[in-house]
Amino acid sequence: MPIISSTVMLQKAREHHYAVAAFNVHTLEMLQAVVDAATEMESPLIIQSTVGTVRHLGAKYLVEAATVAANQSSIPIALHLDHCTEFNLIIECIRAGYTSVMIDASMHPYEDNVAITSKVMEIANAAGVNVEAELGKVGGVEDDIVVDEQDALLADPEECLQFVKQTGVLTLAPAIGTAHGIYKGDPHIDFERIEKIAALVDIPLVLHGGSGIPAEQVKRAVALGMSKMNVATELRIAFSDAIKQIFDENPSENDPRKYMIPAKEAVKQLAMQKIGLCGSAGKAGVLQ
Ligand code: 13P
Repeated sequence: MPIISSTVMLQKAREHHYAVAAFNVHTLEMLQAVVDAATEMESPLIIQSTVGTVRHLGAKYLVEAATVAANQSSIPIALHLDHCTEFNLIIECIRAGYTSVMIDASMHPYEDNVAITSKVMEIANAAGVNVEAELGKVGGVEDDIVVDEQDALLADPEECLQFVKQTGVLTLAPAIGTAHGIYKGDPHIDFERIEKIAALVDIPLVLHGGSGIPAEQVKRAVALGMSKMNVATELRIAFSDAIKQIFDENPSENDPRKYMIPAKEAVKQLAMQKIGLCGSAGKAGVLQ
């Protein structure tokens, strides 16, 4: 099937209390690896790219690669633009065929976040494309977006409700204590806050900063109402470490397949673990 909007995919996840894993990919091999993982586990899948990766590979290449993968696979696949602050790039990706976009205006005051998100909503809605927005500020580093620990800000549950009503946004990433990148200690996830937001807001919620969260904490966050989990850093590390190992063993290796194949396999294995934590294995058919 072609790539589809993530709207219904995530609504079903919320309804049935699992999450869809959303994996940031940077190369064709990473894209193939997460598709192989989700296909093997019969799970719905969201392939994500950062703004930096769109600039590196091009939106059309990413859409074509995701479309070929989706057409060859039996699982539902969406293609999502992660953390975008630029209106024009969002339009470029929608025109290229992305089926889901994130407008991240969380660095602006609340009213501006509402206005910017609403503007994107209007266009994306007309194109049948899902929109994710962020409230509060998720700490850490994601591509060019850097939020210092002291500037991270947890989302207010009442404000989440008001934000969803004002913008009509269909997917919300509330900051609940996770951070992008690898945690120095244990993450401080505010589970009570997740529960409160999920009770007030009836749209799918997104767990950012999925790398390095202990398994039990992921499961608890999903059980409380997180319907999408973003994973980026851990996949990059798995991919890079596998390549480094090949070069450690054979510094003169010059056949890309010799290091790309193990790197792809490392990403696939990790993606399968994350899909397992999300509880979405076997849910590929839950779309009607
Ligand atoms: P990690 O890099 O911590 O996995 O976070 C990914 C993310 O939330 C992308 O939006």
